[in-house]
Amino acid sequence: MLNPEETRQLEYIEKLKKIVGDKERSLNRKLTCQVTTFGCQMNARDSEKLLGILKTAGFEETDSDDADFVIYNTCTVRDNANQRLYGRLGALKPFKKKNPEMKIALCGCMMQEPTCVDKINKSYRFVDLIFGTHNIFCFAELLVKMYETGERITEVWDATDTIAEQLPISRKYSFKSGVNIMFGCDNFCTYCIVPYVRGRERSRKPEDIVRETEELVKTGVVEVMLLGQNVNSYGKNFDEPVSFAELLQRIEKIDGLERIRFMTPHPKDLSDELINVVASSKKICHHIHLPLQSGSSKILKKMNRRYDKEQYLALVDKIRAKIPDVSITTDIIVGFPGETYEDVLDTIDVIDKVRFDNAFTFIYSKRTGTPAAAMEDQVDEACVKKYFDMVLKKVQDSARERTKRFENTVQTVLCEEVNESDPSFIDTRMESNTVVHIKGTPDLIGKFVKVKLTEFHGFYYTGEIINENESGQNG
Ligand code: SAH
Ligand code: SF4
Ligand code: F3S
Repeated sequence: MLNPEETRQLEYIEKLKKIVGDKERSLNRKLTCQVTTFGCQMNARDSEKLLGILKTAGFEETDSDDADFVIYNTCTVRDNANQRLYGRLGALKPFKKKNPEMKIALCGCMMQEPTCVDKINKSYRFVDLIFGTHNIFCFAELLVKMYETGERITEVWDATDTIAEQLPISRKYSFKSGVNIMFGCDNFCTYCIVPYVRGRERSRKPEDIVRETEELVKTGVVEVMLLGQNVNSYGKNFDEPVSFAELLQRIEKIDGLERIRFMTPHPKDLSDELINVVASSKKICHHIHLPLQSGSSKILKKMNRRYDKEQYLALVDKIRAKIPDVSITTDIIVGFPGETYEDVLDTIDVIDKVRFDNAFTFIYSKRTGTPAAAMEDQVDEACVKKYFDMVLKKVQDSARERTKRFENTVQTVLCEEVNESDPSFIDTRMESNTVVHIKGTPDLIGKFVKVKLTEFHGFYYTGEIINENESGQNG
């Protein structure tokens, strides 16, 4: 059953088809489109929705910058994401001069910030369409408006209650997919812009999530990644609350689904129930991405993370006791206001104690409007650089040491894509998310195979496919 908004948007897609068809006839060629994603998995999933609508309307996808329609789905979590966007945008201008048909659109998190929109309206006048995270479901409607009026359109909403889901979608991978389980964030970590640009936390109904996952499985998906800024607070606001662990159990029952991943659980409320469900599951990957941010209790408090160093370490111990083979990965921020050498040593101490399988280390980026941006004791650049190098070296050592434990073992991997630098190899992933390159042909993509990890390269492996019969004989 479609809701009224879905029906309305599908009508706009029909209108858009006519507009695109007319243009094709007058130009005597197909129209092309390019969708570029910045930022996280949520944005990647949103981009699949944008591309689904464009393709349904008749556009052909291209990587090239001289497309007839280019849309950048932006991120603003750190300033370098914003700078990359401005760089890419500047480079588009000459293409637009050459191709009078070309239209340029911007959407996503950066567009929820009025200062960014002002800057674009002032300095990048050649952008034709701007919308935000809350009205992304109106994409077809906005496109029709843009083509019909020929005017620049800026339409950014502050919030929305509408969830319009049953619209076309074009998945990047046929065999794996992200599934949104919730939108927004209410945690307000003091450094983070996400709650301001993605709005309040809203959970999707479990039956809708299960239905979407079942549909995905019917079309060949074997792995899903459940997406939310803090999946542990899933379902808390329902009249009859449903926990994230309960949701996982429902999804696990779907026949044909082989692997379940999720991102991101917040350490402050990772429940015993969730640990037990992951421990006993055959499908949920034994990999937990558990953002630490800092190992210093003083900094964690200033970050409003609501756990301290000891609680984080105790949580990791509890997870490892129940799931001994678990891979734990993390995010770390270096250079948060007030961070001293001693605080960095605390972070390093946590890295030494936990031994992360992998970690993303970020330099703190001041986000206007967040509480941390107004804190007085911002750390000077030279210190941040020194701290960053210290932390990076530690996490790299830890990742190398942890990943090495798989050397010469046999693992089940999912074949994902042809290797970019050597097309006779296929890039595959283990349950732990570790990448393994194997000799193989593209027909393997989307399949699980057993491989022996023969060569360790620091962060990834080269492996050889094991013939099932042979491995059986060897016991
Ligand atoms: N909701 C998730 C992550 C969201 S953003 C969570 O709570 O973990 C992904 C990562 O970006 C964060 O984990 C954090 O490490 C980093 N990040 C967020 N804001 C940042 C900022 N202002 N500067 C540097 N890194 C930041
Ligand atoms: Fe940002 Fe914190 Fe929310 Fe993650 S939990 S999105 S870091 S505010
Ligand atoms: Fe960036 Fe928005 Fe994701 S700010 S990290 S794209 S939620």
